[in-house]
Amino acid sequence: MTPIEASAPGKLMLFGEHAVVYGYPSIVTAVDQRIYAKAESVAAKTFSVIAPEVEMPEYSKSVEDVGNGQIPRSVEFLERLYARFRAKYPQAQGISVTTRSEFSSKFGFGSSSAVTAAFAKALNELYSTNMTEQEMFDLCYKTVLDVQGVGSGFDLAAAIWGGTLYYVKPAKVVEQLRIDELPLVVGYTGIKADTASIVNRVKAEKEHGPVVDGIFDQVGALVEIAKTAILAADWRLVGELMTQNQALLEELRVSSPELDILIDAADAAGAYGAKLSGAGGGDCMIAVTDVHKKEDVERGIASAISIQGTMKAGQVIHVHTHAQGARIEG
Ligand code: MEV
Repeated sequence: MTPIEASAPGKLMLFGEHAVVYGYPSIVTAVDQRIYAKAESVAAKTFSVIAPEVEMPEYSKSVEDVGNGQIPRSVEFLERLYARFRAKYPQAQGISVTTRSEFSSKFGFGSSSAVTAAFAKALNELYSTNMTEQEMFDLCYKTVLDVQGVGSGFDLAAAIWGGTLYYVKPAKVVEQLRIDELPLVVGYTGIKADTASIVNRVKAEKEHGPVVDGIFDQVGALVEIAKTAILAADWRLVGELMTQNQALLEELRVSSPELDILIDAADAAGAYGAKLSGAGGGDCMIAVTDVHKKEDVERGIASAISIQGTMKAGQVIHVHTHAQGARIEG
C-alpha cells in the first residue's frame, strides 16, 4: 500500500473557554498552521513513530503491545488512537507513522488534538474504513480522554471540521459559521500554560460554591451574541464581546500578568477588543481589529513583549483563521 499523508489544523478559541467543559457553547476557529501525519502499512507487525520534532524522534513496539505498558507522552496520542482504531478495525496491522508540524506545541494551538485528527484521517484513507467526521471525532475524543482524562473536545472539532465553529461538547452541536476570514491578531506570551491544573482548579472552585456557575451563565449568554455578531461580520461588537469575555475570565482568575499586558497593549494600539485564548495562565491572547489597524496592533503587542523580561520567548504569530479541517495531502 502507498503511504497516505493527512493533515489537520491548529485552533484558537474565540469565545467560551472553561464554560465549554460544562456543556456551555463556545466558538473556535481553525488556523492555517497544520500538523501532518504520514501513515504507511508495513510487513513487520510493529507500530513505529518517526517524529523528528519531539523528544522521542523514533519509537517502535509490537502491534500486539499497542496501548499497553509505559507509553512515552510524546507518542501517547498516536499510540492510544491506534489501539482504539485496531479495536474497531482489526484488519489494521503493522504501521509506521511519520509526523511533522508547522507550529510549536508550546503555542496552545492544540497540537495533540491536531496530530490525533491527522493520524485518524490518514488511517481512514489507508484502510478504506469510511468513517464519517462524527465517527472520527468520537474515536479521537475517546483517545484524548484516555490520555488527558479531561477536555471538551473543541480543539478536536476544529481539527476535524475546520472553519469557524459554534461548538457544544462532545460534538453535540457543531455548526459551521459561514464567514470569510476573521481579522485577528495573535500574541504568544512565551509561557506554556498548564491546562490540566487550571481546568482542575476551576473545577474545584465550581464545586465549592455558586460563583463559577454564575460566571459560566454569563459566558454562555455572551457566546450567543458573539455568534450573531460574527455572522454579521460586526467586528467592533465582536471585539467588545471579547473584552467582556476577558473580564469574566479574569473573575475566574485564569488570566496572567503577561496575558493582561498583551491585551492592554492591543487595546492601547486601537484593537476593538482582546482576550486570552485557551486555558489561560500563558499561551496566546487574541485581538480583533479593523484591517487598517492590524499592523499597529501587531507592533503594540511586539513592543510590549520586547520590554518584558518574562516574555523572552513571546512573539506575534501570523495566522489566517477559518482554515480547512483534516484533509488528505498530495
Ligand atoms: C483549553 O484550551 C480550553 C478549556 O476550555 C479546556 C477545554 O475546553 O478542554 C479550558
